[in-house]
Amino acid sequence: MSGSYVSTESRAAFDVAALLKGRRTIHEFTQEAVPEAQILHALDLACWVPNHHRTEPWRFYLLGAVARGRVIDLNTELVRASKGDAAAEAKRRRWDAMPGWLVLTCQLHPDAAREREDYAACCCAAQNLALGLWSQGIGLKWGTGKVIRTPDFLDIIGAVPGQEFAVGLFWYGYPAEVPQQARRPVQALTRIVA
Ligand SMILES: Cc1cc2nc3c(=O)[nH]c(=O)nc-3n(C[C@H](O)[C@H](O)[C@H](O)COP(=O)(O)O)c2cc1C
Repeated sequence: MSGSYVSTESRAAFDVAALLKGRRTIHEFTQEAVPEAQILHALDLACWVPNHHRTEPWRFYLLGAVARGRVIDLNTELVRASKGDAAAEAKRRRWDAMPGWLVLTCQLHPDAAREREDYAACCCAAQNLALGLWSQGIGLKWGTGKVIRTPDFLDIIGAVPGQEFAVGLFWYGYPAEVPQQARRPVQALTRIVA
């Protein structure tokens, strides 16, 4: 192979770096539906993360229209109680416009250290999910609003009571807008320890 061009290996490294740095949290989506096969492909990738003791603590819930409607109602009432009618209805309109909905839960464990490691693995799974979607042109937003910590939320999605907690409510779809982001230089956050 000619030395004047990027080798297969360095091209792959470049592509991974571009994927990692180019992924953005998407806040505005188009209304185009994402085929279920593409979601399932990304969910499969989500499972291939580091996972101490291979507990596979993640569970995925893909929400259909009925469950979405119930989550939206629940959230609207939470917002109404804390911020009033106008904020609640604005939130309802925004949530109504979200095209794809999924929830990732993590299994609870009586041992706190184990549960923490399981949560860490679930967060890795969430990032694999985001990258698996992004590589297919699909955006994701990870939400951790108050609603996901309510028993009613777990009941709506059909989670097993006392066995799992929600890591996030994730909206997915084709990006209508891709925000800009910046990060501090890693040198400012790194110490070389002798
Ligand atoms: C655990 C976690 C919870 C998050 N919860 C929210 C949220 O509730 N609302 C929101 O707008 N973004 C949420 N985000 C997304 C962050 O705001 C976003 O990752 C951050 O602004 C950096 O942008 P980027 O993902 O495009 O790099 C969450 C991200 C993580 C990792």
